[in-house]
Amino acid sequence: MELKKEAKATILAHNYQRKEVQEVADFVGDSLELSRKASTVKAKLIVFCGVRFMAETAAVVNPKATVLLPDPCAGCPLADTIDEDSLSELKKEHPRAKVVCYVNSSAAVKAMSDVCCTSANAVDVVRRLRDEEVIFIPDENLGRYVSSATGKEMVLYPGFCPPHMMLKPEMVLAAKERHPGAETMVHPECRSEVVDLADAVLSTSQMLRYAKESAAREFIVGTEVGLIHRLEKENPSKSFYPASKLLVCRDMKLTTLEKVAECIEGQKHAVEVPGDVRARAARAIEKMLVE
Ligand code: 13P
Repeated sequence: MELKKEAKATILAHNYQRKEVQEVADFVGDSLELSRKASTVKAKLIVFCGVRFMAETAAVVNPKATVLLPDPCAGCPLADTIDEDSLSELKKEHPRAKVVCYVNSSAAVKAMSDVCCTSANAVDVVRRLRDEEVIFIPDENLGRYVSSATGKEMVLYPGFCPPHMMLKPEMVLAAKERHPGAETMVHPECRSEVVDLADAVLSTSQMLRYAKESAAREFIVGTEVGLIHRLEKENPSKSFYPASKLLVCRDMKLTTLEKVAECIEGQKHAVEVPGDVRARAARAIEKMLVE
């Protein structure tokens, strides 16, 4: 992509992006890897092929760079389930609790939280808060999974990711029947009855590592279908079956090559995070980035 070179831009893309978008990216990863990468990128221009909360996180951890979001409408219905007012209410009800905030949230909500987490490190982040009361926002399924993995009771919030939530246990059972030799990997945003049927509960990049290292030759994939591209590309001798072809995040698919080119050309759709919000959100995000 000539345009990318001319603009000296770095393109970051989430594992759920369209395959042609993944192919032009400098780095493709899960939410945790992308946050880490964004914090070390030297380029002054980052084009974030993902959804708004991811681009905002990049802008927070790398304030020297301009972060462009190719389609300004690429949001996250899960992040939209919680705003500052509802978090304020929850904090009033549990004044001593620490707030663990899933990255799928706005920068303003992160700014009111103690520490962020992604699906890759949520269990570790909560383990570190062993002796404290914890409010976990906004994904209830992830919170429930973390609770059972850590044995820690937490105050949960009723947010959910619509694509992951549409995956029902009967769909997974049907896929297992069709592919009896396959291992089942699911994302922790799935409902608990689905999580209970899985061989492994993993973030998207953890699924990539798991598939590579496993002796199994076939896998049922319980997450957004965009991940299948990297799974197949990186494991040409193995087979991957979506748990449901309906597991599509419409927001992730809003980014197209044309929009990437247009936003670089016109330097359009920069993501702005106000200074005071940025400073407070940075504290919560940086705590998540320490090993
Ligand atoms: P990861 O990026 O942590 O794999 O999760 C992606 C996701 O579910 C975004 O909603």
